[in-house]
Amino acid sequence: MDDMLFDGVEITDDLLMELAKELVSRSYAPYSNVNVGAALLTKNGKVYFGCNIENAAYSPSVCAERVAIFTAISQGDREFESIAITGIKNGDLGEPFYPCGVCLQVMQEFCDDDFKIIVEEGLEHKTYTLKELLPKGFSL
Ligand code: THU
Repeated sequence: MDDMLFDGVEITDDLLMELAKELVSRSYAPYSNVNVGAALLTKNGKVYFGCNIENAAYSPSVCAERVAIFTAISQGDREFESIAITGIKNGDLGEPFYPCGVCLQVMQEFCDDDFKIIVEEGLEHKTYTLKELLPKGFSL
């Protein structure tokens, strides 16, 4: 799955989640066995992708959300609309993956309070705003 511009296609929350699922198979997570995929929608209609990438030294590991956000920034996109996050934990699909505190802080750096975070809760998709998940984030 390459970074994509979906000309004329409305990127619904459901479609963004389907795209995030495509990324789970790219996850490199031999230490936690938790495979995560993320799809990030920019305000100009582009989608960037991320998966978690772990490391034997543990701390260099990075979450799917940050890979997607940093990829977008490295390509010159900084205006973000929403992100869908999904994964497999202990072989189970449909478990919610809420962004960790580090990823929320990275979102706070680049996203508005109403940036949408789409997660799976069972068979449903639930959408939260960044402000809901990080009400009092750090900024300078
Ligand atoms: N992880 C993510 O990629 N995103 C999340 O929202 C939660 C956690 C990754 C980090 C680590 O590789 C594995 O999941 C277990 O924590």
